[in-house]
Amino acid sequence: MSHPSKSLFFVVLILQAFLAVVLAQTSQLVFQEDFNTLDRNRWQHLITAWRGGNNEFQYYTNRTENSYVKNGVLFIKPTLTADRFGNDFLYTGTLDLNKEGCNINWDNGCFVQAGAEIINPIQSARIVTSKSFSFTYGTVEVRAKMPRGDWIWPAIWMLPTDSVYGNWPRSGEIDIVEARGNADLTCNDGQGKIGNSKMYSTLHWGPDGANNQFQKTSWAKLLSNGTYSSDFHIYRLEWLSTGITFKVDGQVVGSVSPPAGGFWQLSGLTGTNPWAAGTKMAPFDKKFHFVLNVAVGGNFFPDGCVNVPYNKPWTASSSTPMRSFWERKCEWYPTWYRTSRDDSAMQVDYIRVWSA
Ligand SMILES: *[C@@H]1O[C@H](CO)[C@@H](O)[C@H](O)[C@H]1NC(C)=O
Ligand SMILES: *[C@@H]1O[C@H](CO)[C@@H](O)[C@H](O)[C@H]1NC(C)=O
Repeated sequence: MSHPSKSLFFVVLILQAFLAVVLAQTSQLVFQEDFNTLDRNRWQHLITAWRGGNNEFQYYTNRTENSYVKNGVLFIKPTLTADRFGNDFLYTGTLDLNKEGCNINWDNGCFVQAGAEIINPIQSARIVTSKSFSFTYGTVEVRAKMPRGDWIWPAIWMLPTDSVYGNWPRSGEIDIVEARGNADLTCNDGQGKIGNSKMYSTLHWGPDGANNQFQKTSWAKLLSNGTYSSDFHIYRLEWLSTGITFKVDGQVVGSVSPPAGGFWQLSGLTGTNPWAAGTKMAPFDKKFHFVLNVAVGGNFFPDGCVNVPYNKPWTASSSTPMRSFWERKCEWYPTWYRTSRDDSAMQVDYIRVWSA
């Protein structure tokens, strides 16, 4: 009679040992955001009219019409600056964001005066976790719906928290998802459709801006049915000490595993390796934090593509692109609310991070 209980005892012991090993290896949930509220301590707002480095048309504010939570979903929604200050303000006004807590003064982004070019005609939001949550290596899962509407550029991405290897793009940038809100935008240069049926995942890295190597690590996924703006999709980043993989709805968008010589070897550049002190994953071996924003206009929309049913309202070489854009509002603004007033908002249901 003692034998069965003895063997049961050993089975339990072995199971316990097995469980301990599995648990030790299982990643832990280290960040969970369900957006039941917008926690303004966890998510810090950028307040600036700095145009994001890409000549975008928005200024960022912490106002509740641009970032808010509704039914457990975060909304980041671009609105019209004229709705707050009036149309004349765009042509003759002064936007002094120092009065409302401006925290990025790059390119004099805290104080903008109308001149030949108008005041940034769009008001939107960018929120970050740089002061509350950063991590290195892990799996990120985001359930989100991209905005719908012409010239809207949503992004869910990550920036280096300490920029250990130097200024952008030396310390890297991880773009989990970017898209364009246009329903029908097509390029004849091989890119094909670049509107809201396509999403992009990209790593930016390089010794300086002119030598950004992102083309080697930028991938896109085109939906044959539906768009990224009409439904929620699941975006995933698998960031390991051996490589990075992006997925959407369980399918691989792109993947990179750098060789032993790291991203410097992958670049094929000569000169001084800016990541010599790092691992082969450098610059992606340091702490990164989340950035969520909705931009409008700017260089992400190339000249020379075909937008239906009207052409792009500004050109890359224009000295007054925001004025050109604004004065054709009757063409683009209706596309922002074809099915509902929320069409133009990026909606984020949740973000989760598991340790590697
Ligand atoms: C926006 O930021 C300013 C300056 O920090 C602050 O006074 C204001 O309360 C903030 N607004 C909201 C809605 O949190
Ligand atoms: C496209 O998606 C819709 C809605 O999800 C579905 O009803 C339809 O069957 C799909 N069509 C194809 C060709 O897969």
